[in-house]
Amino acid sequence: MLSKKLLKALNNQLNKEIYSAYLYLSMSSYAGSIGLKGSANWFMVQYQEEMVHAMKVFTFINSRGEHTDLAAIAAPPTEFRSLLDMFQQTLAHEQTITASINELTDLALAEKDHATNIFLQWLVTEQIEEEENDRDIIGKLKLIGDNGQGLLMLDNELAARVFVPPPATAA
Ligand code: FEO
Repeated sequence: MLSKKLLKALNNQLNKEIYSAYLYLSMSSYAGSIGLKGSANWFMVQYQEEMVHAMKVFTFINSRGEHTDLAAIAAPPTEFRSLLDMFQQTLAHEQTITASINELTDLALAEKDHATNIFLQWLVTEQIEEEENDRDIIGKLKLIGDNGQGLLMLDNELAARVFVPPPATAA
């Protein structure tokens, strides 16, 4: 059982994780359309990771004897100025997700819901890596500037990212 307030907040987080997946799916499509296939791959893997986050929240809600309250998912942007713009938007978005998970954790602690608090620790830790990855790529893109060769080299690097399902969701 979850309090009404915590259930609402978890449902809200579920919506945000699915929106995140939607946002990165859109970025993947855009990157592919401008010939950056490696970047398209990177964002496609990110889309898959976000769906894992969403399903973790979904499963947790049900495991506590509650049910989800699925809401409409907002449409993500479909046009971007550059790869740097995409990664800057990604980092800014992830920072809002981190803030949202922190608020959820504060709420779980205030309500002394230890099970939810323990569940949220995985997401808290995951956000450190998410933001770090984005910052690293933004740093490289700033160094590359207008150098097309450098951009293609980075795109090749981003092509190597593979989706690794966490043990709980592995087939
Ligand atoms: Fe699920 Fe990128 O936070």
